[in-house]
Amino acid sequence: MQLPLRRFFIICLLLIVLAIANSCKKKSNPAPAPVATLKGNAPFYMGSAVTSNGIQSNYFYQGTLLTEYNSLTADYEMKFDITEPQPGTFNYAPGDYIVNFAAQHHFRMHGHNFIWHQALPDWVLNFSGDSLAWENLFKTHIETEAAHYKGKVASWDVVNEAIRDDDGSLRNKDVNPGDGSIWRRHLGPDYIARAFQYAHEADPGALLFYNDYGQEWGGAKLDSMIALVTGLKNRGIPISGIGMQMHIDINIDTAGITRAFKRLAATGLKVHISELDISVNPGNDPNIVFTSVLQLKQAALYQFIAETYRKTVPVAQQYGITTWEFCDADSWIPVFFKRKDWPLPFDAHYQKKPAYFGLLKGIGGKE
Ligand code: G3I
Repeated sequence: MQLPLRRFFIICLLLIVLAIANSCKKKSNPAPAPVATLKGNAPFYMGSAVTSNGIQSNYFYQGTLLTEYNSLTADYEMKFDITEPQPGTFNYAPGDYIVNFAAQHHFRMHGHNFIWHQALPDWVLNFSGDSLAWENLFKTHIETEAAHYKGKVASWDVVNEAIRDDDGSLRNKDVNPGDGSIWRRHLGPDYIARAFQYAHEADPGALLFYNDYGQEWGGAKLDSMIALVTGLKNRGIPISGIGMQMHIDINIDTAGITRAFKRLAATGLKVHISELDISVNPGNDPNIVFTSVLQLKQAALYQFIAETYRKTVPVAQQYGITTWEFCDADSWIPVFFKRKDWPLPFDAHYQKKPAYFGLLKGIGGKE
């Protein structure tokens, strides 16, 4: 072979070897597949209740929120006892922290709440005045807080848990200590409609919700809720939606969930799953172990809820799914019921549980 030809062959050989080496390198070091997230897969907003303290003090907490969610609800910072601790003295610092964090990171902010029979300061519980004085207290609180957050909060739970569990009547006098409503007692049954009107006048751009629990039980409580919101809507009261808290447990009859979604959807209002968590220890067993059987049962239920919500509530009415906190370490359930429990999609170390993957699958995502 002549010299130039030999050189040509050697160069070709080298190029082939280089190409093969390069393709092997690509195969052994592929680009990482994108990790699925809740907000990246859901066709609606994915939210969580949050505390200002959690966001401020815990990088795992903040990091998980930023990665997975796009809607926030304040756990307690925007309720009456915090925002108006003394008559006419408003304290927005804890709520502002969450609202500003939401704005900075492009979350939707859902306000929770103006009027509830719990989380009230002593001055309200001890207030004595005629019906005009009560109306003024009630109106001032709603209007002042709504005006403060105008343009920063997309939606509000205007009235929370106004209906009794047993017969579906409005909470009024205490049946058990603390379960009556001072609002109904002092303002009459139409206080709910007026709360919506006051909120709307102060912030006409905000969507307004009635929020409660127990829709999945059916019966009198569900009937009353439907009658209440339909009545408000038909009277032209500015109500946009209904919040279905869904503090449920793994033994729930799933038919009740499907029925509730269908009946709420039929009102034409938006439906927000507003406080979802799934207890695995409703029997208060002090020796309970969170076995893989329980974990999978909980995951299947998270999946069922998200899937059924997607299929039974029309797209335009899907306001989203919000869990009540997202990590087991921050759930209200172990504290409130003084028991072990693991109700949320992330474990106490902010790791994804089977419940997370159930929820992800239910919203239509792939792992
Ligand atoms: O008041 C102090 C505050 O000054 C301090 O910064 C903070 C530090 O932890 O403690 C504050 O007390 C908190 C209180 O709310 C204020 O009202 C408690 O820690 C806190 O645990 C407490 O409970 C909240 C409760 O509502 C009352 O607001 C729960 O965290 C929250 O999960 C619970 O949420 C309710 C929904 O609003 C309605 N549906 C049921 C749900 C569970 O009960």
